[in-house]
Amino acid sequence: MCGIVGYLGPKEKKSILLDGLQELEYRGYDSAGIAVISQGKLQHFKAVGKLENLRKKAADFHSDGPGAAIGHTRWATHGKPTELNAHPHMGAFSYVVHNGIIENYQELKKELESEGVRFVSQTDTETIVHLFERNIQKGLEPFEAFKETIRRLEGAYAILLISEAAPETIFFAKNGSPLLIAFDGDEVYFASSDTAVIGKAKEAYYLEDGEYGYAKPGEVKLFGPEGEKELHTQPLPSDKAMAQKEGYRFFMEKEIYEQSTVIGDTMLGRVLEDRVEFEELDPSLFEGIRSIKICACGTSYHAGLTGAYLLERLAKIPCQVEIASEFRYKEPLLTPDTLFIVISQSGETADTLEALKMAKRAGLKSLSICNVDNSSIVRESDATILTRAGIEKGVASTKAFATQVMVLWMLTLYLGQKHRTLAPETLAKELDAMRHTPRALLVEEKLHEKLHRLSKRYLHGHGFFFIGRDLFFPLALEGALKLKEISYLHAEGYPAGEMKHGPIALADAELFTIALMPKTLLYDKIKSNVEELSARDATILAISPEEFELADDFVRTKNGDHPMLEFFEMMVVTQLLALEISIRLGNDVDMPRNLAKSVTVE
Ligand code: F6R
Repeated sequence: MCGIVGYLGPKEKKSILLDGLQELEYRGYDSAGIAVISQGKLQHFKAVGKLENLRKKAADFHSDGPGAAIGHTRWATHGKPTELNAHPHMGAFSYVVHNGIIENYQELKKELESEGVRFVSQTDTETIVHLFERNIQKGLEPFEAFKETIRRLEGAYAILLISEAAPETIFFAKNGSPLLIAFDGDEVYFASSDTAVIGKAKEAYYLEDGEYGYAKPGEVKLFGPEGEKELHTQPLPSDKAMAQKEGYRFFMEKEIYEQSTVIGDTMLGRVLEDRVEFEELDPSLFEGIRSIKICACGTSYHAGLTGAYLLERLAKIPCQVEIASEFRYKEPLLTPDTLFIVISQSGETADTLEALKMAKRAGLKSLSICNVDNSSIVRESDATILTRAGIEKGVASTKAFATQVMVLWMLTLYLGQKHRTLAPETLAKELDAMRHTPRALLVEEKLHEKLHRLSKRYLHGHGFFFIGRDLFFPLALEGALKLKEISYLHAEGYPAGEMKHGPIALADAELFTIALMPKTLLYDKIKSNVEELSARDATILAISPEEFELADDFVRTKNGDHPMLEFFEMMVVTQLLALEISIRLGNDVDMPRNLAKSVTVE
């Protein structure tokens, strides 16, 4: 989500950092900053908002000659997007930039505060620089002090640290967040993604979890848990656009594959051993609340529908879901004991924003589930849970949907705990399943290949019905939306039990039915609904962990233990199917005709 860069060498450092950050800005941009150490002297610049603001602020600053420099572009996780919370974070004589989340930062912060350290930001990152400086003050050599610092950190991180205690040195460490070291002769570059160094450096080493070390002129040392390691570099790609796609053909494809990782970011620091916590929520938000109304558009609306099943079933809270553009004009009856939840990837969707304003005018408390911090919807709502999907470039939403559903599932457990409507055994089971979600979202090569092969049979015909029941009904709606927006083929999502009330009249061999048949939820019911369609010659593509003989095509899923794991796995299947059909039809997958990523007009 955030981006980091570093440089060690004689060139003008500010421009190298700013150029690198520019390449990473698409990941998140609520603030940015740089710190440079040259001739033993440290200097830093930070600015809120886009990188352009930092460029202006540092316009008169130049730093040629030997030295080290680090930079960061931030997408807030802990603390609001202010200049104080922007990286690099400083101590008395050192600076740090960090991606990821330090899970035990509160404990470390308390420890440091009890020793008289004063914190100026609300971030988890600041603990790193203070820990380092405390270790120096205890008499440790700089690299020992750095090692001792990372030994204390729990959570995910990619870290670069510079200090007056070791001028012309960059200390680095990686665990769970990406980091690479790149080289051009004696010059050393660091970045969280290679797009930041392509065109500058020629070869790179992509760090593995648990690795750390330091770089100083003429010497780069890498260590792993077993001690010092060889640093084997590989040539960097030369095409930037390709590199941003990291080898995938389309951003949508990359984003489908990323889901398994970003869902981990969504859960990080929130899904704990025995409960779900949202540090960002003040418990008073839920005081006096008896029901929930969710409002959103498109894919976010489908996430909302999924959430409503979960909230009612597990947290026992009445929940209604509304399409924002409908809600706005229906003169809804709103009571202050309703919590108003809006869901939006962009945070700028005009109808959703207006619905939120209406609810606020009616005196309702509001919560937004959003991917873009500091967006209009985030600013307007009383509280926010960020989905942390990272920037979504494909117009067809994939990872944003997955993370929205995850947040709603987590919120369900949070409320179930709070209101004691969730039995401890059920909570434990849900948490266990939740922790398996990243695995359920992994894309297996075999599966992708199969969908690529199958896709050629689904390019023509009358159209598609995606059918499912319960939680899998909103997933059917979402599957159909994905397909129609990037393939331009007609597709409808339908509750499987409703087919016989009309749509079954359409059934013939040219009607393609994508049947979501989970083992853990109403399997026998959906099975008979699909049998009814098959008896009328509809072409059936069944997605299920259970063999289904009547299917014309069959995609076997693996997770038959928990409905949500089945949900996420089937979601990936429908996304890949849409992607492959669209590619075969020669469409622009990432920028389908007539659509925009952010719908800021009514
Ligand atoms: C479909 C899609 C749209 C958005 C909708 C709402 O793939 O992306 O349906 O979900 O325009 O956008 P947000 O979530 O930004 O409010």
